[in-house]
Amino acid sequence: MKQKVAVIGAGNVGASTALYVAERGLADVTLIDIVEGLPQGKALDMQQAAPLWHQGGRIEGSNDLAAVAGADVVVMTAGFPRKPGMSRTDLLKANADIVRPAAEATKQHAPGALVVVVTNPLDVMAHLFWKVTGFPSQRVMGMAGILDSARLRAFIALELGVSGADVQAMVLGGHGDSMVPLPRFTSVGGIPITELIPAARIAEIAQRTRDGGAEIVKLLKTGSAYYAPAMSAVEMVAALLTDQKRLVPCSVLLEGQYGLKDVFLGVPVMLGGKGVEKILELKLSPDELAALQKSGKDVAASIAELAVGV
Ligand SMILES: NC(=O)c1ccc[n+]([C@@H]2O[C@H](COP(=O)([O-])OP(=O)(O)OC[C@H]3O[C@@H](n4cnc5c(N)ncnc54)[C@H](O)[C@@H]3O)[C@@H](O)[C@H]2O)c1
Repeated sequence: MKQKVAVIGAGNVGASTALYVAERGLADVTLIDIVEGLPQGKALDMQQAAPLWHQGGRIEGSNDLAAVAGADVVVMTAGFPRKPGMSRTDLLKANADIVRPAAEATKQHAPGALVVVVTNPLDVMAHLFWKVTGFPSQRVMGMAGILDSARLRAFIALELGVSGADVQAMVLGGHGDSMVPLPRFTSVGGIPITELIPAARIAEIAQRTRDGGAEIVKLLKTGSAYYAPAMSAVEMVAALLTDQKRLVPCSVLLEGQYGLKDVFLGVPVMLGGKGVEKILELKLSPDELAALQKSGKDVAASIAELAVGV
């Protein structure tokens, strides 16, 4: 039987996610949104494109969260994107009200699903989704690290004039201002980046990566990035559906790793058919560990804010 991916939210990220999943022939897709006609219209448009990318498969739209039923993977993208001048924390309350019912519906109608959360503020929304479903933490993960690493890879590729495909990078921490790019674990064709780019320039590129989302918000004015975010979510969906054992950074529940507890944060994990199959605990330098722990503290503060009824 063909696998099913339910994408909650048929906006920019959700529709692009649905498109990439369908185009790669990874699964049937159900697109869900509160706006009447929107998910149905976009799904029908994609269904009509399917013959052109030589894939079968069904793409459907629905306004009912119960349509997550039978999904192997649920991708949560519904929610407001950041507007210029708006911090991720400003999004907290509005998006928590959207995530809660989506998580309830997933718990009720797709109790065995793996969940990829994209809605911002990412680490907090992943935590909330996990809490509301009561799923094992292995099955709920947030998408941010793959995107942040892809941004770093792209900037390094531009800097050196090489293919982004040859650049490997690891960005850890929360998906926000306190994210932790790790130049030490960044390489081009196996060559450490520290051998190729001076330290001061690496620091500038790392900062541009930290500001990567904001730079696009500033340009677009009425929305935030979605091509690379959707592509990053689909990397995770593919790893889950086809049990790829990818070693990638994702936001997952930490239970003592890196000295952090009860907080979702971006760390290297192994993604496979069961979800988060392993959390890697890297030996970090004191500076790197301090940056990661600070990032964890920021996320924990937002989680606490939600818990007191934001
Ligand atoms: N984790 C990341 O790295 C990352 C990257 C990009 C975007 N995001 C986040 O993803 C989210 C979506 O971004 P976007 O650009 O697609 O926004 P968008 O505005 O284009 O789409 C959001 C969609 O959610 C729908 N929606 C709102 N409330 C809903 C509800 N209760 N049930 C179902 N659908 C509902 C809206 O109708 C809209 O179609 C935002 O929170 C954004 O910040 C995260």
